[in-house]
Amino acid sequence: MILVTGATGGLGHETIDALLKTTPATEIAALVRDAGKAADLAQRGVEVRQADYFDYPALVQAFQGIEKVLLVSAVAFTDRLSQHRNVIDAAKEAGVKHLFYTSIQRSSDFVMPQVTESDLATEAYLKASGLMYTILRNGYYFEGLGYLIGSEVPESEIRVPAGEGKIAFVKRTDLAVATAALLTSAGHDNQEYTLTGSEAYSFHDVARELSELAGHPITYQSSEPAPYIAQKVAAGFPDFVATFFAQWADAARHGMLAGTHDTVERLLGHKPTSLREYLKATYFSTTDRS
Ligand SMILES: NC(=O)c1ccc[n+]([C@@H]2O[C@H](COP(=O)([O-])OP(=O)(O)OC[C@H]3O[C@@H](n4cnc5c(N)ncnc54)[C@H](OP(=O)(O)O)[C@@H]3O)[C@@H](O)[C@H]2O)c1
Repeated sequence: MILVTGATGGLGHETIDALLKTTPATEIAALVRDAGKAADLAQRGVEVRQADYFDYPALVQAFQGIEKVLLVSAVAFTDRLSQHRNVIDAAKEAGVKHLFYTSIQRSSDFVMPQVTESDLATEAYLKASGLMYTILRNGYYFEGLGYLIGSEVPESEIRVPAGEGKIAFVKRTDLAVATAALLTSAGHDNQEYTLTGSEAYSFHDVARELSELAGHPITYQSSEPAPYIAQKVAAGFPDFVATFFAQWADAARHGMLAGTHDTVERLLGHKPTSLREYLKATYFSTTDRS
């Protein structure tokens, strides 16, 4: 049986959606904090198990009879490492054979606070645990682009403190389908994959595509972090969240998110979602904002 954690969140839920296309629901379990948020999964025959990453005994209980666990990494600003260690230790104690961990892409040595530090420690802990492991270094979601540039079509300019940095954006549903394919196929024991889109885009590329779709010129100007953070705070984001956005941009500036890999494309059997497709569906369609 395969258990997916974070099953009430984006990636976890979408991975279960993808698993259900190829795997009987009786072979899938969902780990959630709040079963009330997982009624749709239970209805589809997925076994819903309840545990918080901080609750070690509940995790051991939830992992009984599970062969593979997909550990969807904990959210930033929440002591991710303690949570990940709990999940890894509990999986081992419960007799889980193989644990997949969703890390973040690292195409350069840049260490992003709140994200890469805990990923590096988690990966080392997992490798030393004795569990079979597969590390999935996920690229930056297309769904996170709106946080960096805003969710409306800009009038004439986008400003992000990303310099000439590029991002190999990947749509989360593409990642989910690729992850489900890895969970249900052999040959991934103690392997590490970087799961990205097929192309890396600069913010000049983003501006150019937006211009073509909008039919009026939109340019990109790299900004300094301080005015960018101030502008995000003025738009209503808490200071630490605005700073976090600037840190993602800094990671892009330093090449952390730029490498392209064909693993997602191979697992999907077709090209993953392109920048043009994502922007069109998200910024220029009244029906699909995802
Ligand atoms: N690659 C990227 O661009 C990117 C962007 C953002 C985040 N991430 C990372 O990728 C992960 C998955 O992304 P996502 O979009 O699916 O995030 P998401 O929608 O926020 O989902 C996070 C999931 O983790 C669960 N969770 C959080 N804390 C937990 C805890 N203490 N115990 C048990 N479950 C807990 C949440 O449960 P509830 O529903 O109960 O809250 C939710 O189901 C994130 O958590 C983060 O580490 C990657």
